[in-house]
Amino acid sequence: MITSTSADAAPIDVVVRERRCVGVDIDEFTLARPDRGALPAWEPGAHIDLLLPDELVRQYSLCSDPADLSAYRIAVLREPRGRGGSVRAHETLKVGAPISIRPPRNHFPLVRALGYVFVAGGIGITPMLSLVAAAQRRGRPWRMIYTGRGSASMPYGRELTERYGNSVTLHHSARDGRIDLTADLAGLSPGTAVYACGPTGLIAAAEAACAGLEAVDVFAERFTAPDLRGSDSRAFEVSLAVSGLTLSVPTGRSILEVAEASGVLTLSSCREGNCGTCETGVVSGEVDHRDSVLTPEERAENESMMICVSRCAGERLVLEL
Ligand code: FES
Repeated sequence: MITSTSADAAPIDVVVRERRCVGVDIDEFTLARPDRGALPAWEPGAHIDLLLPDELVRQYSLCSDPADLSAYRIAVLREPRGRGGSVRAHETLKVGAPISIRPPRNHFPLVRALGYVFVAGGIGITPMLSLVAAAQRRGRPWRMIYTGRGSASMPYGRELTERYGNSVTLHHSARDGRIDLTADLAGLSPGTAVYACGPTGLIAAAEAACAGLEAVDVFAERFTAPDLRGSDSRAFEVSLAVSGLTLSVPTGRSILEVAEASGVLTLSSCREGNCGTCETGVVSGEVDHRDSVLTPEERAENESMMICVSRCAGERLVLEL
């Protein structure tokens, strides 16, 4: 089922009230309304769109307390080899600077589960801060595995261990070597929900480690798009039920790109399977889901897909487009 989004919701004007360094090339920004009025409510795991100059739109997880609506906090890793959004954010978001955001959306909510394991890599810690607090409030057993090269690239590590003690394991890969999630996640009880956020390899390792575990679901939030040029990204055909077009989607191009090139009006934002803006209804055909928006249950329903990254698992898809 297509979930409602606020991708086209009216932007909110805010200013940067505070800025502080929380790691190497990682700054935390506190955003508040100019009149200090309350911001929209949000649930743990939510993110906002930052509307940067030159029409750059980037999603950042909220890492403040959902009970405090006087401000939102986000943390941004400056990535010079990225797509430009994080560098622009570091350049322009000085204290006092105005910026527009879109209201929070949540594709990474805390599901009901008997217990939780949170696996975070580096800046992937940001959505976990509100999620672990929510798990703690629910009184469910939980633990966190937080990995990075070292403490300088692991923001909030010390705060987490000070607050939650042994529930949080910090893994410094420069010192401890590569993390072994197969060992760390072995023997999880049925009914455990595993949340993973960080580099693609870390998420893949968490998914692989849980693949054979009974009734253990993995929920992932990725920062980068899956590689559409891989050998598993073969060409297929897509029919658009509304516009009446049938298009060929080659290896290395997304349905979104092919539809846009054919003049079909589509909404998109992150174009990496993270924000949910391009969610499109599926009429028929089996989807190869590659986003980090839909839950395992929603994927099984096969009713919608993120056309910026997901593909066809068979020969042909028919979409409500
Ligand atoms: S544009 Fe963000 S999920 Fe497709």
